[in-house]
Amino acid sequence: AAIEKNGYDHFMLKEIFEQPQTIFDSLRGRMDAHKNQITLSGIDAIADKIMAARRIIIVACGTSWHSALVAEYVIEELCRINVEVEYASEFRYRNPIISSEDVIIAISQSGETADTLVALENAKEQGATIYGLVNVVGSSIARISNAGSYTHAGPEIGVASTKAYTAQLAVLQLIALKIAKLKGTIDDQKFTYFIQQLDAVPEKVQWILDNQVEEIQRIAKKYSDANDVLYLGRGYNFPTALEGALKLKEISYIHAEGYPAAEMKHGPIALVDETLPVIFVATKDSYHEKIVSNIQEIKARKGKIIAIVSEGDNRVEELADDIMVVPSCDEIIAPLLAAIPLQLLAYYIGVERGLDVDQPRNLAKSVTVE
Ligand code: G6P
Repeated sequence: AAIEKNGYDHFMLKEIFEQPQTIFDSLRGRMDAHKNQITLSGIDAIADKIMAARRIIIVACGTSWHSALVAEYVIEELCRINVEVEYASEFRYRNPIISSEDVIIAISQSGETADTLVALENAKEQGATIYGLVNVVGSSIARISNAGSYTHAGPEIGVASTKAYTAQLAVLQLIALKIAKLKGTIDDQKFTYFIQQLDAVPEKVQWILDNQVEEIQRIAKKYSDANDVLYLGRGYNFPTALEGALKLKEISYIHAEGYPAAEMKHGPIALVDETLPVIFVATKDSYHEKIVSNIQEIKARKGKIIAIVSEGDNRVEELADDIMVVPSCDEIIAPLLAAIPLQLLAYYIGVERGLDVDQPRNLAKSVTVE
């Protein structure tokens, strides 16, 4: 087992560090900035269905549901098509209205999650077209899909999903760009710009791994005794806050909640006192001014502020107690980078608390029963 971990203490850490490669592998061969082209044969196969669809429904569970939420923001922005995100377990039991005009994207690392699989079977019976975004080749969800794309994250052993999540995000970006091109909702210049942005992601993730780990370990030690942690984000990084909180819960057993930063006023702000760490995903984007005022609101109530910031953002650095830095990028791409420090933070807090981070209690890698 030590050899399989390639010198890392845990599979989770190994998988976090693999992400420059797994993101690269998930993008490789699929995009070409010179030809202004994205090749996704799965999308080509159902292009007529996508063009006719009035909405796209994305169905998933757990971490995969969080990548679905990011995709909702990105696809609606770039493709101007309505996207609905559903928990598979809710979708399958609530008699959803589905027709042959619906395209459903199913996201699943394992391709075996029972709720997702049955939700898709039901939708397929009602005539929907199923697009599978799956990591495990030949898995049940891959097989019942009408078309799809694989993420190329390789086997994920750690129960808490890391590299599968960022691989999903990478391919979802490609799917959004490809659909935007089909629908003519993006011009060539912007299309090339986004391909270049995506192309730079693996090296930016590598930069985080090379430059932020020591600081994140220090922050992990400082907050490892917390009883609760609040994660806040807006826009494309609202799902990042949810995923950060999920990672911490899974690995450290600390109660954590992810919330849209503005929505905190409607409840979570009541929890804020000088003992509560509040993690802000505050990268430079079109929501930045808004999140800075949310940070000030927490600071006024003496909460401890830990912020993920874009390189060179001195303003948030001054407000925050601790910062984790990520390279600058377009806001649409930011969830791919901002996920990394939050994975590392959860990992090091779990280790600090002496827990079995690869196999947290009560959790399963793949939930094949409902
Ligand atoms: C379990 C795993 C999670 C995963 C979820 C969905 O809860 O522990 O890491 O995100 O199932 O799994 P899937 O394989 O469908 O992505």
